[in-house]
Amino acid sequence: MEKFAKLVIDGKELTLPIIEGSEGEKALDIRRLRQETGYITFDPGYGNTGACKSAITYMNGEKGILRYRGIPIEELAERSTFVETAYLLISGRLPTREELTRTSVYLNDFSPIHENMKAFYGSYPPKSHPMGILSAMINALRSFYPELVDLDEEMNQTFLRLISKIRTMSAMAYKISRGHRVIYPRPDLCYCANFLNMMFDSPVVPYHIDDDMVRALNVFWILHADHEQNCSTTAVRAVGSSKVNIYAAVSAGISALWGPLHGGANQAVIHMLEKIHKDGMSFDECISRARDKNDGFKLMGFGHRVYKTYDPRAKIMKKMCDIILGKATRKDPLLDIARRLEERALEDNYFKEKNLYPNVDFYSGIVLRAMGIPTNMFTVMFAIGRLPGWIAQWKEDLGDPEMKLCRPRQIYTGHEINHYVPLDERTEES
Ligand code: CMC
Repeated sequence: MEKFAKLVIDGKELTLPIIEGSEGEKALDIRRLRQETGYITFDPGYGNTGACKSAITYMNGEKGILRYRGIPIEELAERSTFVETAYLLISGRLPTREELTRTSVYLNDFSPIHENMKAFYGSYPPKSHPMGILSAMINALRSFYPELVDLDEEMNQTFLRLISKIRTMSAMAYKISRGHRVIYPRPDLCYCANFLNMMFDSPVVPYHIDDDMVRALNVFWILHADHEQNCSTTAVRAVGSSKVNIYAAVSAGISALWGPLHGGANQAVIHMLEKIHKDGMSFDECISRARDKNDGFKLMGFGHRVYKTYDPRAKIMKKMCDIILGKATRKDPLLDIARRLEERALEDNYFKEKNLYPNVDFYSGIVLRAMGIPTNMFTVMFAIGRLPGWIAQWKEDLGDPEMKLCRPRQIYTGHEINHYVPLDERTEES
């Protein structure tokens, strides 16, 4: 039975349909609001705004639930691979053995980078942030790979081309930034092992592929693969709503992810933990600075727009730290600092009252450090993982007849009409 809510504005009654999701989330359908009343809604940061209907990812922030296409994140982290999870997100179901093999063949075929693109990398000044380079390079792919005629074919091939090339391009950026010889992808290696090999193999010291590291990377990327309407996915959907090509939309997502409040938090967490370690900053000082509104300091890796309990991804990542660092010969002092800082924050009233818990980024940097990934590549690692989610959301948006060009309204608070003053009559007040 259809449900409705009633809204009374300026003496006029409006009936608003209620939309219910498959897990019981409720929304008021306000699409007729402005047309019928002249009002719009005001929701900075869109915390109460449902921008689309989506069948990809379910999150429950109160209960700490995350599922891709209905499958709990814990099961995927335990049993799936990143490539299989990417397939699940994009196509809506797990692949058969044959489909998975075909996917791997495409990923291998698409993995080399056009030689002309290499020149771009060399033109960036030293110390350029790899996220800026990655965003530009992904956008540039459109110039190197023409549109295919068949839309289904175009989609499948373009998606896999993106997933394959982002891995090669990221490893290549790292090698070039260090002045090292580029290592090319190997068709005999799986997606994650190939990436680690391209990052760390060298003609001088061959890289030994460690199965635990490969598993850890699979888990890291599975945990990051989608997170419903987060900032970067919203950027991909918003930019994609203009019907621009997918490379440009994904490039916008990478830019959005770069910020320290979103994907850049993993890098910021490590900087924070290093500062505590090197400067001997006490936990009390961290907590009291994080509580102080006039201090720009925040406890990075804590808090989330949706999770008001422990982020389920952070739980898995914390366990992964124990596994990976348990076998390392050199212990990472930052892990101990992170654990103690977490304990201290979780017993603090400020963090309790505001429901601030560790998010995925709190422990992910420690796992990445254990793999040997440099800090300035952390957000790139997040971007590689999030790519299947961006693709799935872009595809869903494109195929949804209800979706429109993304174009919010505003409440104008500037001058009322204010006439032009010629330059020689102008004063500071005019
Ligand atoms: N340290 C100290 N105070 C915090 C923190 C924090 N990490 N996070 C939130 N607060 C406070 C905030 O100041 C606010 O206080 P008040 O109610 O007095 O104004 C209250 O908690 C609510 O926070 P908010 O910023 O209004 O909430 P939000 O939903 O807009 O922000 C957030 C979510 C992730 C931007 C924020 O928690 C934050 O900045 N955290 C640190 C950065 C971080 O770890 N980001 C990674 C997010 S997870 C990865 C991803 O999926 O992108």
